[in-house]
Amino acid sequence: MGGVRVDARVAIDPDAVVADVDPRMFGSFAEHMGRCIYGGIYDPDDPSADADGFRGDVIDLVRELGVNVVRYPGGNFVSSYRWEDGVGPRTARPNRLNLAWRCLETNDFGLGEFMSWTRKSGVEPMMTVNLGTRGVTEAVDLIEYCNHPANTYWSDLRRNHGFEEPHGIKLWCLGNEMDGPWQVGSKTPYEYARLAAETAKAMRIVDPDIELVAAGSSNSKMPTFGQWESELLEHAYDHVDYVALHHYFDPDATSVPEFLASGAVLERFVDDVVATCDHMRARLGRKKRMRLSVDEWNVWRQSRFTEPTDRAWIESPALIEDDYDVTDAVVVGDLLISLLRHADRVSIANQAQLVNVIAPIRTSPGKPAWRQTIFHPFALMAACANQTVLHTRPQSPCYDAGDVADEVPLVSTTATWDPDLRAVTLFAVNRDAQQLSLSIDVKALGEKARAWGHEAVSSSVSTDGIPVAMGELTVEGGECVARLPAQSWNMLRFAVPA
Ligand code: AHR
Repeated sequence: MGGVRVDARVAIDPDAVVADVDPRMFGSFAEHMGRCIYGGIYDPDDPSADADGFRGDVIDLVRELGVNVVRYPGGNFVSSYRWEDGVGPRTARPNRLNLAWRCLETNDFGLGEFMSWTRKSGVEPMMTVNLGTRGVTEAVDLIEYCNHPANTYWSDLRRNHGFEEPHGIKLWCLGNEMDGPWQVGSKTPYEYARLAAETAKAMRIVDPDIELVAAGSSNSKMPTFGQWESELLEHAYDHVDYVALHHYFDPDATSVPEFLASGAVLERFVDDVVATCDHMRARLGRKKRMRLSVDEWNVWRQSRFTEPTDRAWIESPALIEDDYDVTDAVVVGDLLISLLRHADRVSIANQAQLVNVIAPIRTSPGKPAWRQTIFHPFALMAACANQTVLHTRPQSPCYDAGDVADEVPLVSTTATWDPDLRAVTLFAVNRDAQQLSLSIDVKALGEKARAWGHEAVSSSVSTDGIPVAMGELTVEGGECVARLPAQSWNMLRFAVPA
């Protein structure tokens, strides 16, 4: 296109398939932490609450967000949780100390309430067992309670609790962040590997159809990163389906250019875990390729948070209710781009968390729930990136993001192809402080391909993170040039008439 300066280039080819998107890529996480459950999901006193005490406005926003799977009940909380406390008649449920977050747990909300809430919200449950203070027996009891049809102690107890049919929970996590010294009952790599393998074996005897996620490293800077995964897979390769990884990105701990490199940092982490899994596959001579579950990721101003050591044991204190700005929304969109680029290995990803606690959805007593900036790129990607991911190999200038990463491309992209809609959606992030022009080669989409729309999130175009429609986009000679605002997340759509 004559006369337009081009800063970066990308080509879209519907035959260059990475993988189909697993719907669980758009997952979230609800922990008994702060006001995520109590005051977030569950608040019988709220005007929007239904007969079960679930906030109706939150359920509406969860559906709008497009979340498909929700991990529960923790997080750090699960590592000292007794699941039996949260089932059966409410009046008989004990108050307990929530050791992870130093507060009082009433157990008003538990397994049965979570299952009812998932049905009302249209999401799949992803249940975590306690491998901190507990072990094989309690995990087996829990899966028998949930998934066994009848005529055993635990399955009949579930039926007595009003759930005649099994809950049929398919996806299970074997503990949470067991490598972290902050975790109640944390483990050495060997201790966890053996416990995970034995727990997985026993759980599968109860229900052979489940999928199991082993806890991986809590972030890429953990001293045991790499060794943890190798040792785990040495013992558990044949017993688990996914290795988990967690990563949070803190804008307060880095400069803006470093923070904007978060997507590249996450990609490096995913690549390293994939490499470790594949190394173990070769060493063990296995056919199966391990898949990944990025079951906690988000922007979190973690450096502002200090672990409480002397707070009174009160119910659901507000914890880490971060307010997000537009740059945070751009980074969230960029992190999702990075995950989609690895859709061949990443099947599950859970933004942490869903309501109030570092969350896209916020509530306040008696007021309607509202969307944070980070809600918007997630919702659009969950709605539009739901079919097949295509390889895009952008040619882009790179920058040095200091201690965080070097050779970070200024423009990162992914694209998805929806054969039913005959549409290609290109997602692009511009990490530069300047507007950049991106040339998009759509020749492989055929002569009839036309641009359909361009929306962007950037502090240069809006203050609330709601995507703004950009200027008209035209395809000429199989090419189109888009202007990506400074530090922006962009969604560009192309119609491909048959
Ligand atoms: O999401 C908040 C906490 O972050 C989780 O409980 C824990 O798993 C992680 O460290």
